[in-house]
Amino acid sequence: LTGTKEGCNEGDCGACTVMVTDARGTRAMNACILFLPQLHGSAVRTVEGLAGPGGELHPVQAAMVAHHASQCGFCTPGFVMSIAAAQVNGRTDHDDCLAGNLCRCTGYAPIVRAAEAVAGRPAPDWLHDAPVEAGPAPFAPASSDELAAWYQAHPDAVLIAGATDVGLWVTKQLRDLPEVAFLHEARDLQRIEETPEGFRIGAGVTLAALRAAMAGPHPAFAELLRRFASEQVRAAATVGGNIANGSPIGDTPPALIAMDARLHLRKGDRRREIALEDFFLDYGRQDRARGEFVEAVTIPATAPGLACYKLSKRFDQDISAVCGCFNLTVEGSEITSARIAFGGMAGVPKRARAVEAALQGRPFTRAAIEAAMPAFAGDFTPLSDMRASAGYRLETAANMLLRYFLERTGVRANVLEVAP
Ligand code: FAD
Ligand code: FES
Ligand code: FES
Repeated sequence: LTGTKEGCNEGDCGACTVMVTDARGTRAMNACILFLPQLHGSAVRTVEGLAGPGGELHPVQAAMVAHHASQCGFCTPGFVMSIAAAQVNGRTDHDDCLAGNLCRCTGYAPIVRAAEAVAGRPAPDWLHDAPVEAGPAPFAPASSDELAAWYQAHPDAVLIAGATDVGLWVTKQLRDLPEVAFLHEARDLQRIEETPEGFRIGAGVTLAALRAAMAGPHPAFAELLRRFASEQVRAAATVGGNIANGSPIGDTPPALIAMDARLHLRKGDRRREIALEDFFLDYGRQDRARGEFVEAVTIPATAPGLACYKLSKRFDQDISAVCGCFNLTVEGSEITSARIAFGGMAGVPKRARAVEAALQGRPFTRAAIEAAMPAFAGDFTPLSDMRASAGYRLETAANMLLRYFLERTGVRANVLEVAP
């Protein structure tokens, strides 16, 4: 079956998109960075399986033809799979559903028109697979208890959750992996529990599931997650992987730290809880012992003062140059508490403590905000790299604080709007 294409081989272009169906539903995923064991118990439909049993075109394929939505055709199998998966799920947010598919010659307008043409129509019957009945997977612990016991005995193993980082170690760095354990069968790690204190989010919760769950209680966080990679990547990537990888430019840690998140770690039967910000010790170094894994992260039920700003070169499907998350409490006219955390400004996700101190107890006025902006230089000494220069990072971080003030005081500051 040669219809599925390989463009980037790193999860960026969506040419390899396939449809994966199991008890959790149907989703579009990037085949290039999926390990075979991640598909245990799932049905995989490639573009060859999209047309009907009599060879009739799937409505998405017919719409792509009718709207002249393909030129060289290399991206087309991926696009039709993404649109077909969106149609199965009744989704009409085409820009989000297609953000992980790149086309370099047709242009997106005809493709989106094709997606619009099928939206709202039921998906053809032949796409409704019964979930596959599968036995236990020997390579994947079925619970966090099993994982804990196994990992303690095999502390040098690589844990694989969504493989959106680990997959690239293989496809791009050509590394051979040592012993591995796949976490996706540990269903108890995929739970989001609502407790009196807030939410306990299991390490195995995908960014797609997290985004859906946060839309009501934490809309600013949910909006940040809309900007996290793409539909296909969010369907695989987990919050545990985003924390455990220790990346200085991971998007969830700044938001979680601004919400005062607690991290739950487990080694064998021993559990401990730390402030998430204390997990990130230094670039490439985290407070995690051999054989210890991330079990969950907890956040408060609400954080009404939270705003998250992701700055990247592309709006869609791009890694942050700077990600700033602000959580200020204003009582009367006074700033009574400030938690501010950034990605992309240091070797780790880091709080802006000098800025926080400069704001604490001050009136919530433009003058006080502008007086605090120079404090960013005390908190951060960012690097220059291909995403942004050090000077640009410092300036934009400070400007994000000003934007936070403007938005909270009712000034429209949406960077995507063209104001008259
Ligand atoms: P995996 O690849 O499975 O694992 C990552 C690391 O964490 C490994 O070292 C693994 O051993 C370890 N690990 C996983 N789970 C646990 C656990 N429970 N306990 C201990 N260790 C564990 N990231 C962003 O932040 N923002 C983006 O916009 C973004 N865009 C991306 C776009 C593309 C195209 C790709 C390929 C990646 C992108 N990423 C982005 C990076 C990646 O998707 C995230 O870091 C993701 O959250 C990793 O989760 P995962 O489950 O796939 O981790
Ligand atoms: Fe580009 Fe898989 S080949 S996302
Ligand atoms: Fe050529 Fe999309 S049709 S890349």
